[in-house]
Amino acid sequence: MATESVEASRLIRGAGEMHRWSDRRRLAGERIGLVPTMGYLHEGHLSLVDRARGAADLVVMSIFVNPAQFGPDEDLERYPRDLESDLRLASDRGVDVVFAPSVADMYPREQTIWVEPGPLGERLCGASRPGHFRGVLTVVLKLFEIVRPDVAVFGRKDYQQAFLIRRMVEELAVPVEVDVAPIVRESDGLAMSSRNAYLDPLARDQALSLTRAVAAIRDAYAAGETSSASLISRGRELLDAGGARVDYLEIVGAEDLEPVEWASADSVCLVAAWVGATRLIDNARLGE
Ligand code: PAF
Repeated sequence: MATESVEASRLIRGAGEMHRWSDRRRLAGERIGLVPTMGYLHEGHLSLVDRARGAADLVVMSIFVNPAQFGPDEDLERYPRDLESDLRLASDRGVDVVFAPSVADMYPREQTIWVEPGPLGERLCGASRPGHFRGVLTVVLKLFEIVRPDVAVFGRKDYQQAFLIRRMVEELAVPVEVDVAPIVRESDGLAMSSRNAYLDPLARDQALSLTRAVAAIRDAYAAGETSSASLISRGRELLDAGGARVDYLEIVGAEDLEPVEWASADSVCLVAAWVGATRLIDNARLGE
């Protein structure tokens, strides 16, 4: 029986080598797509690869657990890592280069210059994770400088992150097209996340209350309810009943992240909640 052979992704560890590879390929007229990740790949990440492949000739995936976006009491040390499996999955999905730098490569000295996200980075996830988005924007800008992609693809599960990256690109005139891909869900609806690996069976069950809350809010909106207060209270009931501890549940404008009193098709419902020791997020555009 004939077996299809898959070409292994090339692994690049150093920023200099990554830079040189990209420069050569760009000079050869090839369009480069970047999928930034922190590894421990799942189908959500791999769907971003497909998206990048559709928009570029070559796909680079970065795998870097970025210390600068974790708070002192967060899960940096225990964040799941498995480079060997990631390389296999990336190769099978046709990634051309996996860029997996070390911390010393990305932060050769103590970082003193940061990309500050401004007030929108202090709300929602930024309120319970101070400094998180400044760490994200700073590393994403570094990745853009090292890889110099034509297009970069991010997942919509991290709605606020994608929003702020778009803002950064616009306001700092970064010559990268930002593409935001839909959320990929497990068969029961749970949004895919590397942090789902932390969930024991009880927490896995509780995690579904985020899915239920978001779906109920979208359904209630579709059935004619537009009061944000009513929509939020319906969602909260489901989160409380499911045993999740709400960090925030808000209905905001999709284009400015400002809370709205009356929901519209352009509103998005954003939720973050703790199930056991794991903080999860989810969201939905109400008009979808
Ligand atoms: O979404 C992530 O995995 C990370 O925040 C990112 C964008 C790779 C930056 O470290």
